[in-house]
Amino acid sequence: MSDTGKIINKISSYMPRLGLSALILCLASGIVLVFYYRPMGNVFQNVEEITTLVPYGWFFRQLHYGSGQLFTILMLLHTLDHFLRKRYRIYLFKEWVLLIFSLCLCFFVLFTGFVLKGDKEGFFAGQIFMNILEAIPFIGGSVSKLFIVPGDSFFFLPYLYHCFFLPILIIYLIRDHIREWFPNQRFLLIGTAGLFLYAIFVRPAIDIPPEASVAMIQGPWFFLGVQTLLKFLPVLLAGLIIPGLFVGCLLILPVIKTDSPTRDHRGRIAYVGENGLHYLLVVALCFYGFLTLRAAIWGP
Ligand code: HEM
Repeated sequence: MSDTGKIINKISSYMPRLGLSALILCLASGIVLVFYYRPMGNVFQNVEEITTLVPYGWFFRQLHYGSGQLFTILMLLHTLDHFLRKRYRIYLFKEWVLLIFSLCLCFFVLFTGFVLKGDKEGFFAGQIFMNILEAIPFIGGSVSKLFIVPGDSFFFLPYLYHCFFLPILIIYLIRDHIREWFPNQRFLLIGTAGLFLYAIFVRPAIDIPPEASVAMIQGPWFFLGVQTLLKFLPVLLAGLIIPGLFVGCLLILPVIKTDSPTRDHRGRIAYVGENGLHYLLVVALCFYGFLTLRAAIWGP
């Protein structure tokens, strides 16, 4: 194997281990925050009090934010690595589905965390999410009430999902995929040192009060592409059908996998189908990356 190949292999084996270190720190700092966080009443004021009045509250918030982002980004890169190397060919369908589903849940945890800040951006993101769910024909109203309800309890369901259901579900789903739950001490040490330095030295973004009037409100970074699509397409299409189709195509890859074009007609069709779908997904990912960058620079 070439030197570049060896380096790439090393990086791919480091990513999940560092990701696990970030998850451990994220869960630990989340447990500290949950003692002070109140999902009812004036949530924005409560979060500001955690930042300014609770001893080291600012530190735990920033540590939680940094470790949560790092964990999800590393899980995304790890899945991308599997996808680009076409490792779904060696996975059982069930295993691949669990991995993709867990990654989607990681993004949902980040999203609910963003809502929990209780500031203008969090509230706005929660409302867009509610509108997307309500746009589902016939059952939208009932489905949205399973995740978020308007009024005084607006933050309560996202809180339950974020702090309890989703982390437990993610850990449960990835349990068989993880070979070693406690990453080698070196990774834990590097992850902890890096994230502590980040929490101490990097200033957090300013939380915008819910009553402030601002020209433009942005959702979390991974949602910016959807936010842009929502400007041009109907809610159901931009918020559910397009992302759903993308995830659906990703899921069926192991079903149509082939190692080489076989002589028979069906084998050739499967080979072309798998490769066609693979590259279509690569193009869709690049396009989404472009939409995200565009929205980050010029606004959604
Ligand atoms: C996979 C696991 C988790 C991820 C990726 C994650 C990520 C996040 C993110 C990105 C935020 C927004 C922080 C900000 O913008 O300031 C947040 C907020 C929050 N998280 Fe988590 N979290 C996770 C698990 C947990 C757990 C297990 C708990 C509690 C037991 C928790 C409690 C909280 C609380 C109370 C907030 C709101 C306070 C704040 O905004 O600082 N999180 N989380």
